[in-house]
Amino acid sequence: MPVPLLDMQAQLQPIRDEILNAVTSVVDSGRYIMGPEVEGLESEVADYLGVKNAIGVSSGTDALLVCLMGLGIGPGDIVITTPYSFFATAGVVDRLNATPVFVDIDLKNYNMDAGKLAEWFSNASDEDRKRVKAIVPVHLYGQCCDMEAVMDIAEQHSVPVIEDAAQAIGAQCTFRGEKVSAGGMGIAGCLSFFPSKNLGGIGDGGMVVSNDDAFADKVRLLRNHGAKPKYYHAMVGGNFRLDPIQAAVLRVKLKYLDSWHEARNANAGRYNEMFSSELFVKPEVSAYTERHVYNQYVIRVPEKRDDLRKALNEEKIGCEVYYPVPFHLQECFAPLGLKKGDFPHSELAANTTLAIPVYPEITEEQQREVVNAITTFYA
Ligand SMILES: Cc1ncc(COP(=O)(O)O)c(C=O)c1O
Repeated sequence: MPVPLLDMQAQLQPIRDEILNAVTSVVDSGRYIMGPEVEGLESEVADYLGVKNAIGVSSGTDALLVCLMGLGIGPGDIVITTPYSFFATAGVVDRLNATPVFVDIDLKNYNMDAGKLAEWFSNASDEDRKRVKAIVPVHLYGQCCDMEAVMDIAEQHSVPVIEDAAQAIGAQCTFRGEKVSAGGMGIAGCLSFFPSKNLGGIGDGGMVVSNDDAFADKVRLLRNHGAKPKYYHAMVGGNFRLDPIQAAVLRVKLKYLDSWHEARNANAGRYNEMFSSELFVKPEVSAYTERHVYNQYVIRVPEKRDDLRKALNEEKIGCEVYYPVPFHLQECFAPLGLKKGDFPHSELAANTTLAIPVYPEITEEQQREVVNAITTFYA
């Protein structure tokens, strides 16, 4: 029985008419740039996450880029993140001619190790410490980073935090005694509506969320070439606008998001029970996690990960490696002068992790098939 990594059709079919009606209404409205669908989605996502501002943008990548632009980041500045994420997290730093600096991940949840962040600040020269203009923790696979620890360090050094919540819409954690959503703790958070995300559009899309009104206003301007009023530019922005067709589709899907999160959690729970062998390291839920949204269910396997991947693909079982090459070993970052061995946890994760299907509509039988195929490979 084939099991895809993600079954777009299974999600679409029950809501296909609603989606098509939403698209049709944008087509018929003649409002093709910004307008009520974008504003509607912004206010609904802000409510959903309990944040003051939400600004629809063209992608998760552009959400990160526009936030760094909003902080005025440029040549000579340092932005600290981890080496283990989707390329955009570090790519945007380089695009602004700033320098990405990496701290390793915690292998328990693949997110920034706050201890390593503290260590970096203790070991850095005064000059380098002053160059740090942002910290970008990533809430990878749908689970929050240890934000309390990261924010404490950031505040100690007066550095703003931009959360990369591209994979974590609706993820929640305990933060300073309260239950808070991913994206709502730093100066801003960045969401992606890439189709494979828990809330995915029918194309690219993203959002910046922020509780800081002044920063949100700046991002709103930068999203549209920095124009205020139209044709008058006090700052240089870009065209980072969210397409209203995407907004209309996302508004339909947002109504189902909690039920999809719940289904992903139930599926993750089932995998946890099915993987009885100690050979596989299952995803760990951190003590501060209030809600994991399992954008990915990622296991670590003992050896021959790439052979396993090939074997699963031959059996038509979807799986993927997120991500095979950590940033410090990417060819484009060779000028940073980093080398193998610099970030051992990221390297171990890159070599041994495998994401298996956890999408909401997967059946128990399909999950059993996935687990059997993996277990048989190592028998
Ligand atoms: C962690 C992370 N950051 C940033 C992005 C970029 O988002 P997008 O693909 O919408 O540009 C993604 C998504 O692919 C992601 O997973």
